[in-house]
Amino acid sequence: MNERQGPAHGLSEHELSEIRMLIEERTGICFDESRERFFSTRVKEHLRAKNHERGTDLLRAIRKSNVEYEALLERLLTQETSFFRYPSVYEAFKKRVLPELHVKKFWKNPRTLRIWSAGCSTGEEPYSIAITISDSLSFSDSWNVEILATDVGRHALKHAEQGVYKGRSLGSVSAQQLTTHFAEVATGHQVKSRLRNMVTFAQMNLASAVYVGRMDLIFCMNVLIYFSEERRRSLVQRFYDTLEPGGYLFLGHSESISKMPVKFQAIVLNDCILYRKPTAEEHHKPELVAEGRA
Ligand SMILES: C[S@@+](CC[C@H](N)C(=O)[O-])C[C@H]1O[C@@H](n2cnc3c(N)ncnc32)[C@H](O)[C@@H]1O
Repeated sequence: MNERQGPAHGLSEHELSEIRMLIEERTGICFDESRERFFSTRVKEHLRAKNHERGTDLLRAIRKSNVEYEALLERLLTQETSFFRYPSVYEAFKKRVLPELHVKKFWKNPRTLRIWSAGCSTGEEPYSIAITISDSLSFSDSWNVEILATDVGRHALKHAEQGVYKGRSLGSVSAQQLTTHFAEVATGHQVKSRLRNMVTFAQMNLASAVYVGRMDLIFCMNVLIYFSEERRRSLVQRFYDTLEPGGYLFLGHSESISKMPVKFQAIVLNDCILYRKPTAEEHHKPELVAEGRA
């Protein structure tokens, strides 16, 4: 029996609300009114797919078994992504941030760059970072580049590790980049091992504080929008603490942290905002800097 043909199953408002609370408590993802329809449709789909008669059966299963819980969670995650999703962010990364890091770190030994892609979905974001570094950082081969790419979704991470993409996901990859950084395989284009070796994928839930070491850059794009205000605040504070002084936080276009108490410098470049952690000497500088073109 396929998911559509399954019998009508009982799922009360109360059970839906219990499931909603459980997901929020464990992952921080908040299904508010704007996403209510998406949430109830997906949970009902899941109930049918798992052949549970009632909502209480599903609740019991996800409370008892982590495998069952993760299966439901996977159905509820929004994992839309693509290479170079916001071209202006990668322009700013290439023209403003990488030259700054080059000057700051070139004479360090070892010459290491540590980057965290938090909520990396199927991997397009960390690989876009790796491509930008490889194409734009002077003497990129002489750097030790470590990109930690984490997500709560196991299926997405499996896809990311294989690094095979096709169709719309590759829409913003130039012909030159496709030839340089991808190999054609039967199922699409696979990111070459030189770039794949820069990236380490790991399952990680951003709702639990896990130590990842100091980072030069953190990309957390289109993840905070799914969290409650309180979770957002604590995560942004965690990112601040994790960044090296002078490090940058990249967020999605609709994610502003301007009202949060954390003291990032907001640098406005074209249509993107970069958040920079000031160095000890820079704490007196203005918090908002408009710089126009990248
Ligand atoms: C819309 S995608 C964004 C992907 C990519 N950052 C981008 O902007 O293209 C959001 C990702 O956040 C992940 N996510 C949501 N809640 C999470 C959590 N609590 N911990 C880790 N990852 C989470 C989802 O699994 C999903 O892959």
